[in-house]
Amino acid sequence: MAADQVFTSFPELVTKQTRLRSLRADDAPGVFAWKSDPQVTDAYGVDSYRDLGQATAWVAHRLQDFQERNGIMWLVADATTDAPLGSICLWHFDERFQSAELGYELGRPSWGRGLATEAAEAVVRFGFSELRLHRVEACPLAGNTPSIRVLQKVGFTLEGTLRERVRVGDRFVDQLYFGLLGREWRARAQL
Ligand SMILES: CC(C)(COP(=O)(O)OP(=O)(O)OC[C@H]1O[C@@H](n2cnc3c(N)ncnc32)[C@H](O)[C@@H]1OP(=O)(O)O)[C@@H](O)C(=O)NCCC(=O)NCCS
Repeated sequence: MAADQVFTSFPELVTKQTRLRSLRADDAPGVFAWKSDPQVTDAYGVDSYRDLGQATAWVAHRLQDFQERNGIMWLVADATTDAPLGSICLWHFDERFQSAELGYELGRPSWGRGLATEAAEAVVRFGFSELRLHRVEACPLAGNTPSIRVLQKVGFTLEGTLRERVRVGDRFVDQLYFGLLGREWRARAQL
């Protein structure tokens, strides 16, 4: 089965501006840089990190997820310098349903260069063609226009709204559910 091969060795991917590679322990300071920024973490309703140890633990947990076949977390590295710019993942991997959830975040200095779109296109292509997924889903908060725009550009369809599902500070915010089916992706990619 495809998943057996995928989870044997880490699947590195290359895009125009980035290299999507496995996390390493020495990426923790880079991870901390964006996870300690409330403008990044507020976008998905999580508290920002306060110390480097949280980033170190996060890296270890994501590597463990891969060992346990729960998901794949790629470090989005600059194609030229290998500097950590962000992360992108397929998580909540369900082998029986052949589904997974797409997630991504970038440090603020990397916003607005099309990086998330090209990384998402590469990861979605990998999910359907190598991991043999049937469906990929993504769940941005309402009002996260950049993330919604990325999903639209990659071909996702808005399927529904979970009203006031996520607490951000003192507010409860709607969460949007987007989905992309393998046959829709193949039709777009003309495969
Ligand atoms: C979401 C995120 C990864 C997008 O990264 P990015 O590399 O800047 O995205 P891209 O450049 O590929 O595309 C962003 C799109 O949103 C648009 N956009 C950005 N800010 C916008 C705004 N305030 N209003 C309208 N459109 C906006 C851009 O113009 C672009 O669309 P276009 O190509 O049609 O012009 C980044 O903003 C981020 O890390 N945010 C915080 C974490 C987060 O929200 N993660 C996702 C959780 S679901």
